[in-house]
Amino acid sequence: MPKKNQTLGEFIIENQADFPGSSGELSRLINSLRLAAKVVNHEVNKAGLVDIIGAYGETNIQGEDQQKLDVYANNKFIQTLTNREIVCGIASEENDDFIQIKGHKGDNQNKYVVLMDPLDGSSNIDVNVSVGTIFSIYKRITPVGTPVQLEDFLQPGHKQVAAGYIIYGTSTMLVYTTGHGVNGFTLNPALGSWYLSHPDMMFPEDGQIYSINEGNYVHFPQGVKDYIKWCQQEEGNRPYTSRYIGSMVSDIHRNMIKGGIFMYPKSSKASDGKLRLLYECNPMAFLTEQAGGKASDGFKRILDINPTELHQRVPFFCGSRKMVEKAEEFMAKAG
Ligand code: AHG
Ligand code: MN
Ligand code: MN
Ligand code: MN
Repeated sequence: MPKKNQTLGEFIIENQADFPGSSGELSRLINSLRLAAKVVNHEVNKAGLVDIIGAYGETNIQGEDQQKLDVYANNKFIQTLTNREIVCGIASEENDDFIQIKGHKGDNQNKYVVLMDPLDGSSNIDVNVSVGTIFSIYKRITPVGTPVQLEDFLQPGHKQVAAGYIIYGTSTMLVYTTGHGVNGFTLNPALGSWYLSHPDMMFPEDGQIYSINEGNYVHFPQGVKDYIKWCQQEEGNRPYTSRYIGSMVSDIHRNMIKGGIFMYPKSSKASDGKLRLLYECNPMAFLTEQAGGKASDGFKRILDINPTELHQRVPFFCGSRKMVEKAEEFMAKAG
């Protein structure tokens, strides 16, 4: 049972029992992520003081202008995981291809791969609004002892062994699951330790917040337009409240605590929406389901999608179960 205020270190040790016969590798991996998160947090916190705000000057494979912090966070997480030889491969939103990590003996003995969005919500960096990091962990499917392959990364989301996010907000939190519920830890910056502040996080079954970039309304599918109008109708507990930060991590974190739905649908401008299945949707979907919520592409479960490419995009509906089901109802009706 998670105990409020225990440290993340204590929690990890206590919960290793979740993995019968476990070698401790996953625990060491989560330990490395929490270390990298602290380093990135330190940099994010002083973003206004040092030359880390603004554009890096290059475009990533997503066609986005990279921000300096995108690149910094990406390097920090890769460095930490590579130096500690804890995974056999890393795929990132910011890298064209996956990275193979053979280990200093070159014998490919590690069994986990990490996929990540090192900095989520980059457009919020310059204006001092919360950003995040998202990670997703799988056991490789190719044999240990051989170099990691693309297929190790292209596994359906229901195969994840762990996933989580860090939110660099008014306080910094690390929220993660290993498939046994969701727990949230808050960083005490004075001590540099994470404390369990949000044990057993659960989405309220229903909610009253909808989060979507409504500026794109004219480009949305009819089902989404109809659902938005329904959210705005005066009836029962509606109209709902609209909240959209533009950092998916922060939007979903809020909705998990207060009850709500986050949507990034396809549009006439982007046929698969914007969000990346492997770095953003799968980890958030795993966390959401573990917290009693629901995540779909408007029609079917996100975690059942068989990925075909690393940077694949997918429409995303995620949040309180009843709200996502309602949105799906409108999607099905509009065809
Ligand atoms: P990233 O910063 O990792 O590229 O992700 C940004 C994503 C997500 O965090 C956010 O919800 C969404 O893009 C915002 O997009 P719009 O500006 O199109 O609403
Ligand atoms: Mn980006
Ligand atoms: Mn993102
Ligand atoms: Mn990003």
